[in-house]
Amino acid sequence: MSKNKIIKILNQASRTKEDLVYLLSFYDKDERQLIYDKSKEIRRKYIGNTIYLRGLIEYSNICAKDCFYCGIRANNKEVTRFTISDADVLKSAEYAYKHNYASLVLQSGEIISKAFTKKITSLLKQIHILTKNSLAITLSCGEQSLKTYKEWYDAGAHRYLLRIESSNKSLYKQIHPNNSKHNFDKRLAALYNLKKIGYQVGTGFMIGLPKQTVEDLADDLLFLKEFNIDMVGMGPYVEHIDTPLYASRNELLSQEKRYLLTLMMYALLRIEMKDINVASTTALDALNPNGRVEALDIASNVLMPNLTPLKYNENYHLYNNKPDSLHADKLVQYIEKHKHLHGNKIGFGEQGSSQHFYKRIHLKRTTIAKNKKES
Ligand code: 5AD
Repeated sequence: MSKNKIIKILNQASRTKEDLVYLLSFYDKDERQLIYDKSKEIRRKYIGNTIYLRGLIEYSNICAKDCFYCGIRANNKEVTRFTISDADVLKSAEYAYKHNYASLVLQSGEIISKAFTKKITSLLKQIHILTKNSLAITLSCGEQSLKTYKEWYDAGAHRYLLRIESSNKSLYKQIHPNNSKHNFDKRLAALYNLKKIGYQVGTGFMIGLPKQTVEDLADDLLFLKEFNIDMVGMGPYVEHIDTPLYASRNELLSQEKRYLLTLMMYALLRIEMKDINVASTTALDALNPNGRVEALDIASNVLMPNLTPLKYNENYHLYNNKPDSLHADKLVQYIEKHKHLHGNKIGFGEQGSSQHFYKRIHLKRTTIAKNKKES
């Protein structure tokens, strides 16, 4: 009976919140498989079987924020803080260039200062010179002013990731301190600014947070659709012992359930938003050693080998049990180990822009032209 209902919902052009809640509640293997298969079919049809690479540089773990879930929050005194030297950033960029990754992500804690803004601008320019403008660069450096985002865009960063963490404002409040540094509306405004400037914009959230419901998760999916997002990075919440949210660990779903819920969210996201880029995030591997590969099989099309020099790596722990299975020097073994990659191929040499972004921009341009003609 439920199988027929699942098939019917999957074949609709789009799904309501109620439909999504219904689909998120399945743990039965055969029923889940129906949903995974639909996601795979859509992925093949709309974006093909290429997995794009993004070399990840965890540039600095210095962070002004105090998010209750995050291992590098300002108040965690157990962390040794670092910022990678320019020379090491350039070495990592050169590695990505030489190994044909075609794309880089520069990620850091949130630092708001003129010096930081200038530093990122300067690194962007140096990377582009060194790699002959051949790398697409994504930044993930938190909430910044419109002016800073614009400066970085002009310096050659054309993609930006800023997770909303939870689209439910009241849940957002529960997992962040209640002050102006951690304000949901400001974060949302930052996402709009990124869009206004012309970035390919990515966002996402954590799955399996304490007190999060399947209704919240359905809303998270609808938020991505409503915002018309180009790229998504989302993953399971994984507790970190040196954070306040660790106190709520007994309220969590089991790791197995959180993992399955995350995979289901990947599948439903692909079914709802057919042509966006979806990263297979590292946190998946913290719950299941095959997590990222499974997500790539079912729905995602972006893999981020870590390029952070190993001497810094151990201090960039956002959650416990951070896997290091995919440091860049192990990529070749990784591909070899998961040889089949479920019929997908690695897109060496391909920047892999979000197809959704191009369609969105094209639509915007034609609408503006049409409005001009009519007025
Ligand atoms: N579990 C899972 N993801 C986390 N992040 C931070 N802390 C955790 C955690 N404990 C995610 C947040 C942040 C991104 C860099 O890492 O979503 O935006």
